[in-house]
Amino acid sequence: MTSNDPLIVDCDTGIDDALALLYLLADPGIDLRAITTVFGNTSADTAAANTLRVLELAGRPDIPTAVGAASSLRGTARLAPHVHGDDGLGNTGLPTPAGAPVTEPAAELIVRLARENPGRLRLLAVGPLTNLATALRLDPELPELVSHVTIMGGAVNHPGNVTPWAEANVANDPEAARLVLRAGWDVTLVPLDVTMTELLTEEHRLRLLAATTPTSRFAANILAHYLDVYQRNVFGSPRAACHDPLAAAIAVGEVSPELAPIVPVDVDTSDGQERGRTVAGRPGRDGSGGPGVRVALRTEGTFPERLVQRLGGVPSRTIDIA
Ligand code: BDR
Ligand code: CA
Repeated sequence: MTSNDPLIVDCDTGIDDALALLYLLADPGIDLRAITTVFGNTSADTAAANTLRVLELAGRPDIPTAVGAASSLRGTARLAPHVHGDDGLGNTGLPTPAGAPVTEPAAELIVRLARENPGRLRLLAVGPLTNLATALRLDPELPELVSHVTIMGGAVNHPGNVTPWAEANVANDPEAARLVLRAGWDVTLVPLDVTMTELLTEEHRLRLLAATTPTSRFAANILAHYLDVYQRNVFGSPRAACHDPLAAAIAVGEVSPELAPIVPVDVDTSDGQERGRTVAGRPGRDGSGGPGVRVALRTEGTFPERLVQRLGGVPSRTIDIA
């Protein structure tokens, strides 16, 4: 099911965040009302500059970008230039954006838009959950005001990607993730269990590169860096996980997980080696483990094809990938 209710994307605009934004922006029927940024792949300020770059490239500089948390609730900030490049966008050298972020802080913007659109606002969080946690602290009624929250984060039956247990977005602010996952709103969690099965490949990149639009060529350029990082560190071949774009597609109802039990999900906030681990309870437990969260555990594995088509990639038969 799709809906044109307003959507805020909260992101740490690195490479896959940018692809997620481009995917959403390519459908004029999606009411992308604002974008808020958080530290993570890069600083919150650089994430905002990158968001502005993407919006300007896509011809949507009218969508407001608000800067959020520069560090976790505990005051830590570990960035990821080794994955996303020094500029967060694969060192692709996009020009300085013409526009600037709005002055309203991210968490305040989230609360204001939730109050202005009671029962309608959708949130898509694809970075550390610090802004959402801060918004919950500002307005404890937020869970009743927001219609749905989709979160890219966590690793349930899958190893983590920053430690053997923890996924980056949760690991960057476990306290915030715990608060958000236990707040009692309608949440879909999109963990590594599914995002690591939806893989972009070199063939996808070549099809994007062969397209003529500035956005598809930009997508191909940032994807080159991402494929290289994944080839060297993860898969040994040019394939890369489609984390944030998959969560975006689930948020707007364009991908429906084939398996998505509703279970309580807690986060390890200890200082032990499992800090940042997402721990899912058994289906059917009610109350004791906290409110239920829909956890995407299986998708078809065909989403990258849809992403490439949406971004204008040329059909596969027209590309010579030999
Ligand atoms: C998540 O961490 C970030 O590096 C990506 O943008 C994605 O949101 C994957 O663990
Ligand atoms: Ca992200």
